[in-house]
Amino acid sequence: MVRRSVSSFFCIAAVAILLAGTSGKPATLRQAADHIHLLVGAAVQPGLLSQSAYSETVSREFNMVEPENATKWRAIRPDQATFDFHEGDEIVRYAQAHAMKVRGHCLVWDHYNPDWLAQGHFTPAQLSDLMKEHITTVMKHYAGQIFAWDVVNEALNEKGEFKDSIWYNQPGIVLPKNSNYVEQAFRWAREADTQALLFYNEAEGEGMNRKSDAIYDLMKKFKKQGVPIDGVGLQLHISRLDYDTAAVAANIKRLTALGLQVHITELDVSLPVDVDGHAQDADIHKQAGLYRAVIEACLQSARCTAIQTWGFTDKYSWIGTHSQHTRGAALPFDRNYKPKPAYDAMLEAIANAESSHQ
Ligand code: G3I
Repeated sequence: MVRRSVSSFFCIAAVAILLAGTSGKPATLRQAADHIHLLVGAAVQPGLLSQSAYSETVSREFNMVEPENATKWRAIRPDQATFDFHEGDEIVRYAQAHAMKVRGHCLVWDHYNPDWLAQGHFTPAQLSDLMKEHITTVMKHYAGQIFAWDVVNEALNEKGEFKDSIWYNQPGIVLPKNSNYVEQAFRWAREADTQALLFYNEAEGEGMNRKSDAIYDLMKKFKKQGVPIDGVGLQLHISRLDYDTAAVAANIKRLTALGLQVHITELDVSLPVDVDGHAQDADIHKQAGLYRAVIEACLQSARCTAIQTWGFTDKYSWIGTHSQHTRGAALPFDRNYKPKPAYDAMLEAIANAESSHQ
């Protein structure tokens, strides 16, 4: 017979009390995730945190947040001489007030850069200084407050080659021999903050394809060469209801076998919608199946340590503007913050997970 001490009895009782209702099942994503030491998060916008329905849902349901745009170059660097942290700081303050972690996004990208940078016609040496200065200043500002950063975002094209960008070849930064800008960014990031986890974040390379093969090869090379990298972010903006989630599980397995963590960073499942933004019931249910399958794919690997949705309510999602409002309804809460079948599927999948995460 297993003997339990009085203190462990009270621990178990406390956990049981935290679990909702008489069923003993967790009532929120956050409770379920805390129970298995999983991070469950959402991308947020600082300007919306003053709306009570928005902010109460975030702190009730998630134990992690990520600035959707507030810590990108365009938000932080209105001009070359200025670092404006007020939007990112607002998110950090909110997270600290609600005992949540903050994931940072993103230090180097070819997109959403301020015009003074994108069209500044800087020389490679100047771009190199700018990149280093940016990574260093931003990471030092948030040291101890942002636990993980997407150091480089979306560097590859669909063939798995480096995309044309100011950092790579237009004109690119000055590089030590045999390195590339991604590697250099990670080295500067580690110098700036030795504690933060450093991630490479990518889109459309989540399953098994040319791009995910290229990411895998790059990560393998980085590990072999001692490039400081802790994990890969798999975005998972899903737009097909026949999406192959088994391939995502397989990809997570091979990445984590390299000793890397995986974070699901930008999960959403967009659906065709009518002019009022409504999707068909059948699609909403298939969507729930995909949310469940993605979470189960992550939870199969102990090193898949965080699951995050890109926004959380259909009221505020990038999908609408991006698709001229032909698609939407992509997130686990509807426009009135009512949980959808996708939410129930997420909750069940996390609550049913047996193994502890780290
Ligand atoms: O803030 C201005 C506002 O002042 C202006 O009136 C309005 C008019 O269009 O634009 C607003 O800026 C928009 C900004 O989002 C804030 O809403 C930009 O036009 C728009 O391009 C920008 O889009 C963001 C995009 O990244 C580019 O940064 C999306 O919200 C954001 O969801 C999206 O997120 C990316 C991830 O960072 C990387 N992975 C893909 C993902 C989806 O594209």
